[in-house]
Amino acid sequence: MLAKYLKNNNIEVSTLLGGRSSGDIVEVEDFERFGKVFITTEDGSTGFKGLVTQHPEFEDIGFKLREIYSCGPEPMLRAVAIEAFRQNIECEVSLENTMACGIGACLCCIVETKHGNQCVCTAGPVFNINELTGWDAFKVSGENCPV
Ligand code: FES
Repeated sequence: MLAKYLKNNNIEVSTLLGGRSSGDIVEVEDFERFGKVFITTEDGSTGFKGLVTQHPEFEDIGFKLREIYSCGPEPMLRAVAIEAFRQNIECEVSLENTMACGIGACLCCIVETKHGNQCVCTAGPVFNINELTGWDAFKVSGENCPV
C-alpha cells in the first residue's frame, strides 16, 4: 500500500527485499509494479549474496533516497537505522515487538521513546528512528550495532 501510494504521488520507489534464502523472497511481482526491486539472500540462492544493508544499491543511498521505510527483524532495522543516520536520511521502522492483547492493556509490547514508554500495538508499529530511545546512539558510528 505504501509503495502504491508513493507511486501514485509520483515518488520513485525502490524496494530492497532480503531473506535467508530464495524461499524467503516473496511478492516480488507486486513490488515490481511500483518500482525497482533489489533482492538479497544470505546464502546467495537468489539476488545479491549478503544482507540487505550490504546490497550495492544501499551504498551511498543518500544520493538516491529521501526516506527509508523498513520492516523486518530488529537487528536488521537497527542496521538500516545506522545507514540512515550516517547518510542523514529520514527513516521509519515497523517494529515487531511481541504482542498479546493488541489494545494497550498488557504492556508486553512497550518500546522506549523520547516521549516515554509507548505500546507498539497502539502507538505504532511504525516509528521514526529519531523517536526511539537509544537508536540515535548509532549516529556517530556502528560500534554499538547489534548485528
Ligand atoms: Fe498488549 Fe501492546 S500487545 S499492550
